[in-house]
Amino acid sequence: MQVSKQIKTIQPPPITEVKSWLAGRTYPAEKPLVDLCQAVPSYSPPAELIQYLKSSLDNPLTFKYSSDEGLAEVRGAVCDWYQRHYQSAPVPEQLCLTIGASQAFWLAISSLCQPDDEVIVQLPAYFDHPMGLQALGIKPIFAPFDPENAGQPSLDTISQLITKKTKAILLVTPSNPTGAVISPAQISAFFELAQSHNISLILDETYNAFIGTTPHQLFNRPDWPNNFIQIASFGKTFALTGLRCGVLVANDEFIQQALKIQDSMVVCQPRPAQLALEFGCRYLDDWVAKNTATMKQRHDRFKADFTAEETDFDLISSGSFFAWVKHPWENLTGRQAAKRLVEDANLICLPGEAFGPGLEPYLRLSFGNIIATQIPEAVKRFHQI
Ligand SMILES: Cc1ncc(COP(=O)(O)O)c(C=O)c1O
Repeated sequence: MQVSKQIKTIQPPPITEVKSWLAGRTYPAEKPLVDLCQAVPSYSPPAELIQYLKSSLDNPLTFKYSSDEGLAEVRGAVCDWYQRHYQSAPVPEQLCLTIGASQAFWLAISSLCQPDDEVIVQLPAYFDHPMGLQALGIKPIFAPFDPENAGQPSLDTISQLITKKTKAILLVTPSNPTGAVISPAQISAFFELAQSHNISLILDETYNAFIGTTPHQLFNRPDWPNNFIQIASFGKTFALTGLRCGVLVANDEFIQQALKIQDSMVVCQPRPAQLALEFGCRYLDDWVAKNTATMKQRHDRFKADFTAEETDFDLISSGSFFAWVKHPWENLTGRQAAKRLVEDANLICLPGEAFGPGLEPYLRLSFGNIIATQIPEAVKRFHQI
């Protein structure tokens, strides 16, 4: 069977690879597996949302296509959500509902770029971004990771990477994998940099419910639609990762172009996902606020425990769901270090190099997956190995 050479050069899906290391392993009751691998909220959506979805199954419309961009009332509810959370909002014509933030990214990139174009990607990068770019023949130009900056992108470094082929600067805030949050002032500066080169700033804000501070104010600027594209996921916000609730936010003309790809790719976000998204945006602000506070407590606890004792692992950066640590084994890659943690500590996490070239000394720990009472045990495994 022939497979494209381009696809063969892309790394395998990291979570699938790492989870395959668990095959056939068993764990004693006194040392169960600690799963710091995938970024999935440890809690379920609230009962009222589940009840609402159950009742929607009696309506035959639930099983039918919607318009490509998604139902008007759902996009309206999402815009109202933005108004409450960002104090400014796009209009429904500037939204396309997608199969997770993942598909929003593909729509954005394939509507914006052609093969051989360049997109500047900050390291460490959310692995699906370079994988998607490479699959489309678009070149990721990596802005290097500087441990001194704890995962913050540098305006100077990125501005020097812009060439005639650059179509976009891609940033993720809060970052997966470092948890670093880019300040609203920095985001405005990156927007203005993109504007001055007539390219786009693409911001992936999948974890925006877990910032805990004021988000950026770009939607307040009348000129945002010319150079800003936002990738959003309500999967983490409403604990609906399996329903695939993403949104692409962009200039309305850009959305019209993206709908050509939407139609040929998926037609529309499935209606059950749209219904859940609308319900969440209309009724779940308090529930989300409670979980944001829980996640902050987990982070504070994790950070305090991790740094309380001398350990050979360095906490480089942390926030929202994630901690980015340097492992102590200079002669091991991140993959080898992560395997050692599976074998010797019954703990699973992701190797640094999954997040881009040159990141073998690092590991990503997703503490958002575990509840607060599991944190001391998880941290102990690093202190004891
Ligand atoms: C930074 C980032 N973007 C996008 C995604 C994909 O989100 P979704 O599940 O909505 O496709 C993830 C998922 O972990 C992520 O961490």
